[in-house]
Parts: sequence; C-alpha cells; structure tokens
Amino acid sequence: MTRTEILGRESSRLRKLGHKGCAYIGKVVSYPAGRYEEVGEMFMDIVFPHCILVLGKRGSGKSYTLGVIAEEFGFLQSKYRDRISVIMVDTMSVFHSLKKENNITEEIRKLPTFANLQARGFPDYSRIFMPKSTIEKVREMGRDIAFDNILQLSIKDIEIYDWLSLFNLTPTEPAGVLIARAIDKLRSEKSVFGFQDIFEEIKIQFGDEYLKEGVINLFRMVENIGIFGEVGTPMEEIVRGGQLSILDMGYIGHVSGFDIRNLVVGIISRKLLLERTLHTTVEMQAEASLTPSAGKNIMRKTLPMVYMMLDEAHLFIPRDRKTLSSTPLIDWINLGRHSGLSLLMATQSPSSIDPHVLGQSDLVIAHNISSADDIEALNRIQQTYMKGSRDLRTLVSSMDYLPGLAVIFDDRTRKVEMCRIRPRCSLHLGMDASAIPLSERMGLRSTHEVGVSTRKKRPASEIIKDLQRISD
Ligand SMILES: Nc1ncnc2c1ncn2[C@@H]1O[C@H](COP(=O)(O)OP(=O)(O)OP(=O)(O)O)[C@@H](O)[C@H]1O
Ligand SMILES: [Mg+2]
Repeated sequence: MTRTEILGRESSRLRKLGHKGCAYIGKVVSYPAGRYEEVGEMFMDIVFPHCILVLGKRGSGKSYTLGVIAEEFGFLQSKYRDRISVIMVDTMSVFHSLKKENNITEEIRKLPTFANLQARGFPDYSRIFMPKSTIEKVREMGRDIAFDNILQLSIKDIEIYDWLSLFNLTPTEPAGVLIARAIDKLRSEKSVFGFQDIFEEIKIQFGDEYLKEGVINLFRMVENIGIFGEVGTPMEEIVRGGQLSILDMGYIGHVSGFDIRNLVVGIISRKLLLERTLHTTVEMQAEASLTPSAGKNIMRKTLPMVYMMLDEAHLFIPRDRKTLSSTPLIDWINLGRHSGLSLLMATQSPSSIDPHVLGQSDLVIAHNISSADDIEALNRIQQTYMKGSRDLRTLVSSMDYLPGLAVIFDDRTRKVEMCRIRPRCSLHLGMDASAIPLSERMGLRSTHEVGVSTRKKRPASEIIKDLQRISD
C-alpha cells in the first residue's frame, strides 16, 4: 500500500500543510481487474470550513461515518482541536456512546490494521446536553440517564416569525396578530421573560376571550416540551473549542407534534452565524492592524470555528418544504466558508434534501446507493467534479457491499475516490433493534451491559435546580 490521498484540501494548501490537521478516515480502495484492493490511506481536511454530505441507504454506515469523523476531531493536536467546536445534533440519541470504548470484537480486531488504532472512548471530549423533559421522562420510568448539562434555550431567542411558523399561523390572521403583538411588547420591554409573562400579556391584549385561551393553550403545549425557559444554557457551554457537544433531540422530536428540533437548530445556527460573522470581521480588522492586536486573541479564545453535524439532515433541510432551520442552514452553506461555519450532514437519499445542499457540498461521501434517481443525482455532480471519465454506474456496480465502503466526491481536488471507512474506536449504538440481545448478536468483548459513562455524573435533579436558580 503506497498511496496517501488527502481529500478536501486544494493543492496550494496541500503543498504547505501536507496532512496536518486532517482526519484519518480509512483505506483508499481500488478495483484493478475487478478485484477489491486496499491501496493506501485516506485523509480528509477538517481544519478549514467545509460542507460535507454523507449519503446511503438505511444501514449503509452514514451515522457510523459521522461518528468516525467526530472521533477524528477528538484526535486532532490540541492546538488545532481547541480552536474548533463540534456540535452533534443527535436525533436518535445514538452518539452518546462516543464516550465509551468500542467493545465489538470484530471491529476491535480490525482497528490496528487502520493506522494502528486502538479501541477507546472520548469521555472528556464529548459532553451530552439533554432537555429537562427527557431526563424527567426517563426518571418517571424509574431508570437513570447520563448527561453532562441541560439543553435549554431562552424564550427570548424565539422570533415572532418562529412562533408563527411553529403554530402554522400567518401574521394577518387574528391569532397571528395577537401573538405578534404580545411577543413584540415583551421583547421590547423585558430583558428576560417566561411562559407566565406570555400568558399574562396575551390576557391583557385586546381580542376575543376564546381566541386568547386557544393561543395560550398553544404556548402551554410548547412549555410542556420543556426545552425553553427564561434563560438558556449559556452558548459558551455548547460552543466551546476542543469540545464535542452532543445535543440530544431523540425525545423532543416526538412530543406535542411541533417541529421543535428545527426551531432549536434554527435558533442555534442563526445565533452562531451572527456571532461568527462579527467575530471574523473583528479578527480580520485586527489582522490588517486596524485594531489593537490584543483584541484578536481575546476573540479567538471565546469563539471557535464551528462544525455542526446533522444526522437525518432531511428533517432539517428537506427538499419539499421550508422548515424553521432551512434558511439558517442555507446561510451557513452560503456564508460559512468566510465565517468559519461548517456543516456535516447525513441523509438516505440526495433527492430527499434541499438541492442546494448537494450542489454546494464540497465533499460527498456516498455509501451504498442503488436507486436510479440517486445514482443519477450523483452522476450530475460527478460530471462537474471528475477529472477522469469513469462512469458512476460502472463504479457503483463493481463495488462490493462491505460495511463502510464509500465513493467520495471531492470538489476541491476534483477527484472521485473509493474508501473503506475505518472502524470506530468508540462504540456505535445505531444498529438495528432486535429481539436478540446485543451481546449475542455482536460478540461483545465483555458481557456487561452497554452503557455510557460520564466524567462527572451529577444527579439530574441537581442540574435542574441549578438551571431553575438561574431563571429565578
Ligand atoms: N466503517 C464501518 N466499519 C465497520 N462496520 C460498519 C462501518 N460502517 C457501518 N458499519 C456497520 O453498519 C451498521 C449500520 O451503520 P449505520 O448505523 O451507520 O447505518 P445508517 O446508514 O446510519 O442507517 P440509517 O439510515 O438506518 O440511520 C453499523 O451498526 C455497523 O455494524
Ligand atoms: Mg443512521
């Protein structure tokens, strides 16, 4: 094996930096004479901004690949790692296990053949942020749950148009007018406010009593979801250099029928876009010696570059409708290169996601794909990417169905490469549900129950009390 491929890094950077600040993602694969062969090592740039899309059918390895890349941020030299904040939007609660070392015998056996890696967890690097409602629900079931921090957003960060789209209202219908008036007044008069203030404000507004009651009920339903409060989890806790913040949205995705996940991602992306844009402006002024150089270092310390990972990305930026996160995410895609905001998205089919994502992704990692539509969609980007003239259909049909095998399209180097993504060092929990226990199915190294350990496991009640104290 002799080749070293570095994806996502154009030749001028490659000459200067080599594979410094790159993720090791697996083996370069080739099919000389139609036979699978591993012919080199595959790296991928993760220290400059990117828009990366991971595609593939159910069970083809998308979440697993996101986990591999998340681990690689954890492996970066600390001087680079500390300047990047990684946010994992965890819709299925499958990334908690990044804290725990891999215990699947087959995968651990293969790890050393991939750059001599060993099984390990990332307990200090990863922090789990969980909504109060999830913790309370689990406790009601008499079970315990591990987490590091509460995920809560401030009500004040919800704009009038967010409320209206959340409730599916227009600004001209009576309920829309009532909400716009009440929220506008609270936003201009109070620095913080809670649901109780909203109820009281609605009651004193001019309008039909039944309408007011109905609108209050809508707000009550959102209150019950338990992710919004007077104060939010400080942004500096979530966006921290050298930290992987796992935002658990497994349970809130299913309560009350509101698109809360999109609202949360929309608010976080919007805030970060504003802050990072300002930050970049100040930083560039300092670099051009327009401001005192001390300012440059203070800013760098407080606002790292951000990589946001979105598994099941079609939930957030689908093709057929606008969600509360669509516009902020498209802004990230369009403006992120300058502001240091990157997206890493995974979805089953390129036709389920906003076409802008496929068109603007500079790296596309395609696992097992077979539908004619999906191959056609990829063929279209291939025509703009590819130096050679290999037909994608031939390429895909010659590939074995091996776990982690992918075709990667790289816009920066204009190449299409095949890669066998490496096994995970930490545990992957996204496998199929089955009546056969995990230990029997996977041949675990030890038979103890798979769980998650956290650095400082504080009781949920204590953390909730802390948060309530801040809001009082
Ligand atoms: N690189 C890899 N090395 C070894 N095994 C892998 C690799 N990638 C995937 N697998 C295996 O494939 C299984 C399914 O992978 P994963 O959970 O990532 O699928 P998925 O594409 O996210 O599916 P879904 O669309 O249902 O979410 C994993 O549990 C793992 O056993
Ligand atoms: Mg998955």
